[in-house]
Amino acid sequence: MLATLHVIGQTRAHPLPRLFSASGRHALIVDEVPYFIFGVQAHNSSGWPAMLPQLWNAYEAMHANTLEVPVYWEQIEPLSGQFDFSLVDTLITQAINHHAHLVLLWFATWKNGSNHYMPEWMKRDAAKYPNVTGKNGKPVDSPSPNEEATLEADIKAFTAFTRHLVRADEQRMIIMIQIENEAGAWGSVRDYSSTAQKLFDSPVPAELMEPSTLKALQVPVVQSGNWKKVFGDRADEYFHAWSVARFIGQVAAAGKHEYPIPMYVNAALRDPLTNPMATNYESGGPTDNVIPIWKAAAPAINILAPDIYLSSSETILKVIELYDRPDNPLFVPELGWDTERVKYLYEVLARGGIGFSPFGVDDNGRDSAQTEISARLAPFANEYATTEPMAGNLAKWSFEGKIKAALEREDHADQIINLGNWKAVVSFGSGERKVSEKINKESNGKLLVVRLDENRFLLMGTLCRVSFIPSGKNAGREWQYLKVEEGSYENGLFKPRRILNGDETDWGGPRFGPKPTVLQAEVILR
Ligand code: DGJ
Repeated sequence: MLATLHVIGQTRAHPLPRLFSASGRHALIVDEVPYFIFGVQAHNSSGWPAMLPQLWNAYEAMHANTLEVPVYWEQIEPLSGQFDFSLVDTLITQAINHHAHLVLLWFATWKNGSNHYMPEWMKRDAAKYPNVTGKNGKPVDSPSPNEEATLEADIKAFTAFTRHLVRADEQRMIIMIQIENEAGAWGSVRDYSSTAQKLFDSPVPAELMEPSTLKALQVPVVQSGNWKKVFGDRADEYFHAWSVARFIGQVAAAGKHEYPIPMYVNAALRDPLTNPMATNYESGGPTDNVIPIWKAAAPAINILAPDIYLSSSETILKVIELYDRPDNPLFVPELGWDTERVKYLYEVLARGGIGFSPFGVDDNGRDSAQTEISARLAPFANEYATTEPMAGNLAKWSFEGKIKAALEREDHADQIINLGNWKAVVSFGSGERKVSEKINKESNGKLLVVRLDENRFLLMGTLCRVSFIPSGKNAGREWQYLKVEEGSYENGLFKPRRILNGDETDWGGPRFGPKPTVLQAEVILR
């Protein structure tokens, strides 16, 4: 495999995308530089030639740099062993024309926990490709991860697909592959078929019995035992997580053998704050509590990625924290298309994440007029348009840990950002004069800060204002703004449009309105 990688890397103009990790931080490297995915995801049924023109229109309107789009097993292998990659080729050609990178979503054995994207010839043969058997002995609408025939079929198709990419994507437009989509099961915590039951009653595999893994799962360290004995009332869920992860890990390994680019699995989340049981969420997927199981079972998968549809900033910030780990680059491949979620882009950048992508960019039969589309896209599109000229800098700063962020919470309380010998005080609300005015009921305020040098800061934000307090060696000194400029950051340089002063900076510091603005502020001591 290394030999293949070497050959591919050496002989093509474009090196393979890859992940780079150092000191617990991660970067996605594309064309040999850090790359942050300012992404958008297509609706589920939009990866078809007839839908692509309007998908690309929406993509262009967003100022994104990456399109996440599904490829469908039912389309790729309509008859067993007969593959058709024309759709994949079309996507690659059109991505080149639109200067867009692609993340392809392998909708195969699992889509939202079900087998709905399996080819017809598999759906017609439920005996060979069975679903999970529920506790009551009846099939559940979710494929069994414990059946060899299904695993073999998925591996065969994914191998053919990734082998095709070696030649089809010489320009490396595809930067990552998502394997399956929100794998796991709704409606049964695990498979109760006789095949699965036999495994469940057998000793827990050695990889999971590592003391560090058991500790991470917060269970007593024991030498051996079956699933029930080792994991108690979590045994059913942990067994299903292991089974699903083991299955997808083998698909990933086979694909990487052909084409070693980053691969990830997305998660339908559980409430990260209350430790609910798996009867309340999709069981077996990489929810926060089973990340150690997925890491042990599926080392070929690079990233476990949260799909964020939960609400409340406490909940969402906890999710982001839980998936940002030394062994797991932070990537948000899907989030709901609501204005209140836009601010988490700043949190992902501030944590050194590798990408962010709202779900459902294209029309999908909901919008008719172009004006409506732009109105719907605006909250995310405005952010992406503002970050577009500095996307490369943001990716680098993010990897280097140079970005800090403050996100408005439901209580609208002020927040402090530590910046060495300065503290930034961020107040939310877009009031004209009073710093404390809270007219922003929806808590959409946010600020991103990059320390350009000791006293100079790049600021980007909405619905907040910012002031500074000397701290550290500056503590107790008087200060003032030397200059505050509004403009854009392009190709490594700040391009001023105007100097902000007077009403625009007095009364509590520069103010950010509902549209994202970029400022460069320099402060001095007096
Ligand atoms: C999460 C899934 O991953 C997406 O494919 C989509 O079904 C959304 N939920 C809901 O629209």
